[in-house]
Amino acid sequence: MSDIQAIQTRLVGDIADAADLDAIEALRVSALGKAGTITALLKTLGGMTPDERQAKGPEIHALRETVTAALAARKAALDAAALDIKLAAEAIDMSLPADAAPRGSVHPVSQVMDELAEIFADMGFAVATGPEIEDDWRNFTALNIPETHPARAMHDTFYFPDQMRGGADAGPGEGGRMLLRTHTSPVQIRTMMSQEPPIRIIAPGRVYRSDSDATHTPMFHQVEGLVIDRGIHMGHLKWTLETFLKAYFERDDIVLRLRPSYFPFTEPSAEVDVGYKQEKGRRIVGGNGDDDGHAWMELLGSGMVNRRVIANCGLDPDEWQGFAFGVGVDRLAMLKYGMDDLRAFFDGDLRWLSHYGFGALSVPTLSGGISA
Ligand code: DAH
Repeated sequence: MSDIQAIQTRLVGDIADAADLDAIEALRVSALGKAGTITALLKTLGGMTPDERQAKGPEIHALRETVTAALAARKAALDAAALDIKLAAEAIDMSLPADAAPRGSVHPVSQVMDELAEIFADMGFAVATGPEIEDDWRNFTALNIPETHPARAMHDTFYFPDQMRGGADAGPGEGGRMLLRTHTSPVQIRTMMSQEPPIRIIAPGRVYRSDSDATHTPMFHQVEGLVIDRGIHMGHLKWTLETFLKAYFERDDIVLRLRPSYFPFTEPSAEVDVGYKQEKGRRIVGGNGDDDGHAWMELLGSGMVNRRVIANCGLDPDEWQGFAFGVGVDRLAMLKYGMDDLRAFFDGDLRWLSHYGFGALSVPTLSGGISA
């Protein structure tokens, strides 16, 4: 056996016996590294006569190729074995009986918020959030509702005791009285102050007002929408709301009516009504409110963001315009899924939850059906 054959037999045997990746690397260095056996053989080619080189060259090159291939094959085998061990350790027993799975359902409010996120994501909106404990400046003042504004009285605000004033985070001007946010509109302020326009967000979340009867609970849910860009007008607002409501109610005959209204943070402002029909004691959204048997129902507040609000957030209202809207999530859920008492939403009654709740896998998607 020639020297070269002997080297090959030894190396290929050692590689086949290599127990781990470190052993393989050591063998590679000993054969093909700077001071490796095969590297040394390759170097001898330079000192040979052309005849010797013709005889030995192919043999040495073949040796290098054989050893390189053996190293790669052994490495692949070790990798596969390691993966098998890992997969065996991470196995999940899919044969577990279904009743051992956790029970529970997705609350309609969570489901509707997921539906809204899905619908608005398709229109290029991101989901923004803000804290439920908010400061006076962001909840009111920055939204053009100064201390003396009558709109403050309409908000039935839960204020924190005076000693719990906000610190440096309180926002310009107001001394930082803290409260439970009365609407999701302060997220408009937070977003405009922390993000460069163009802005397209929805902000779903909990809001609080000191109010309680069959249609009012001290905590309820809203979703805010905000678009800030150049050249935005009411047409964009109307198209967005129409597209959203058609997707949400999953019908094309949604008819909107924009009524002039007043909100301090929008100018002009519009209240948006939707046509509906009473059927079997339920309001079914769709159709024209002026047609036979139909009526209009107020659904959301909206408008063009007031220049003052844009300026309060440090943006130039001559450059940036936008629209905003706010809508009750609980109310949207009641209309679509037919509940009639808002208080039941927050009773935690398992029978109500299993009746109106959604399966964990019924994730809303535009392709698979929003409420499928
Ligand atoms: N923040 C208002 C409320 O809670 C709802 C609202 C109205 C939000 C008009 C808006 C808007 O963004 O443009 O009653």
